[in-house]
Amino acid sequence: MPTRVLFVCLGNICRSPAAETVFASLVGEAGLTEEFNIDSAGTGGWHVGEAADPRMRQAAQRRGLSITSIARQVTRDDFDRFDVIVAMDATNARALAQMAPAGQASKVVLFRNYDPDLPGADVPDPYYGGSNGFDEVLDIASRAGRGLLAALTQKTRG
Ligand code: 4NP
Repeated sequence: MPTRVLFVCLGNICRSPAAETVFASLVGEAGLTEEFNIDSAGTGGWHVGEAADPRMRQAAQRRGLSITSIARQVTRDDFDRFDVIVAMDATNARALAQMAPAGQASKVVLFRNYDPDLPGADVPDPYYGGSNGFDEVLDIASRAGRGLLAALTQKTRG
């Protein structure tokens, strides 16, 4: 059974599509593609059906990563369909915990709990900021993604 991982931000057009893509790339480099199902979603619905923000896609493309996800809103069913729900910041973690079916809120983890540089911090929302915000998201996703992958592979392999 693959480990099912859902990355969640607010709009699902910047941070969580980047995290999803970076994590899938790390999983691929580790030769573990068959062992993971990876997706992303947003707690908000304003951008449903849209491709990721062009600034986010361009920043990723400069690193050789193609972000192809289409925005969707997270649902209660996602708690049944995923093993781990990875929130990009504390606000989204709270929103997820509130919508979780009984007993499932413990599936929600904060992405930067796995970032050794600044554990427990938010992934800053780059949407209204300058262009280096998108590169910062990718740097964070790379560090936290490595940490998350290490934690999940330790767990599944005992
Ligand atoms: P994201 O960024 O949560 O990283 O996808 C945002 C994108 C859009 C909005 C907010 C955050 N918005 O309010 O439209």
